[in-house]
Amino acid sequence: MNKLALLGGKPIRTKAFPIWPRATDLEKAYLNKVVNSNGWGIFRANTVFQFGNEFAEYHGASYGIPCANATIALQIQLQALGIQKGDEVITTIFTCISTITGILNIGAIPIFVDINENDYCIDTKKIVEKITEHTKAIIAVHLYNSLCELDELVEISKNHRLFLIEDAAQVPGSFYKDKGVGTYGICGSFSFQEAKSMTSGEGGIILTNDRELSELINSYINCGRIREGDIITRRVIGGNYRMTNFQAAILLGQLEVLKERTDKRESNSLYLNKELKKIHGIKINERLEGTTKQGCYYYIFKIQPEILGISKDLFTLALEAEGIQTKKCFPLYIRIHFLI
Ligand SMILES: Cc1ncc(COP(=O)(O)O)c(C=O)c1O
Repeated sequence: MNKLALLGGKPIRTKAFPIWPRATDLEKAYLNKVVNSNGWGIFRANTVFQFGNEFAEYHGASYGIPCANATIALQIQLQALGIQKGDEVITTIFTCISTITGILNIGAIPIFVDINENDYCIDTKKIVEKITEHTKAIIAVHLYNSLCELDELVEISKNHRLFLIEDAAQVPGSFYKDKGVGTYGICGSFSFQEAKSMTSGEGGIILTNDRELSELINSYINCGRIREGDIITRRVIGGNYRMTNFQAAILLGQLEVLKERTDKRESNSLYLNKELKKIHGIKINERLEGTTKQGCYYYIFKIQPEILGISKDLFTLALEAEGIQTKKCFPLYIRIHFLI
């Protein structure tokens, strides 16, 4: 084996990683069209509608409602489903804080269920014991390069008459048993924040197959307004959480390359899985059986210092010295940002 770069050897990689985010000609063309039109925002939000429809269609959902970010998307889904103060919402704590803030902001109570050790998603075997008469919903988070056990989640939510919401913020373009993530529950949301694999700087979207729910969600996003042709008549106290046509234009460009990029990220992560599995002292995330396409945001793996004989800090320093960008994630985890 070559001498480690950390000990003065030649680094494995000397080429810089590409910057992220970066626009291709596709995003620029869509953006130009919007800039040169008179449809920038609310009154001619055609690009927003187009993106909402196309993103929904890609994942196999009937409705896609773009919004300002996934944090507010999570809160609005709960509000539109009628979750109220004192209601309990089951979720996990190993997630972005935004999964929890929506619950707290409406006065509901997050009930935490442990995660699986092999993929860090909610342990579906431990959900039922946490269900009480106050439980109204489950928010399942597809985290990093893992998908939740969707069949079990759908079954539990049906059996206990709970709403299943998928926090799919990190996994656009992922499919389980050929069905897009975000479509297994009553609704689900995605994030287009700057680090995400599909991004407009900021942004989010909610998917659902339920027409009335989609109209209510839209109303919460758009100051309580009811659109022409909507069948709901109930006005709600909404806010302005709209996406602009500029953001939607960038996302339309990225949607065109989503499949190609997801394929590449997936094949890179499968390669890393195969190679890292050979190293005693490194634990990789297990891929859920039935996954047909797995988007990858950060690639994470766990190191076992007691087996490797070195600390996580030293391990990351050695990777950095070899020219591999890493970020320390949670204690004992290392993440690699896939930049393609
Ligand atoms: C799992 C998860 N949920 C929710 C969010 C919130 O997304 P946003 O930053 O678009 O509000 C993020 C990421 O930022 C996330 O990773």
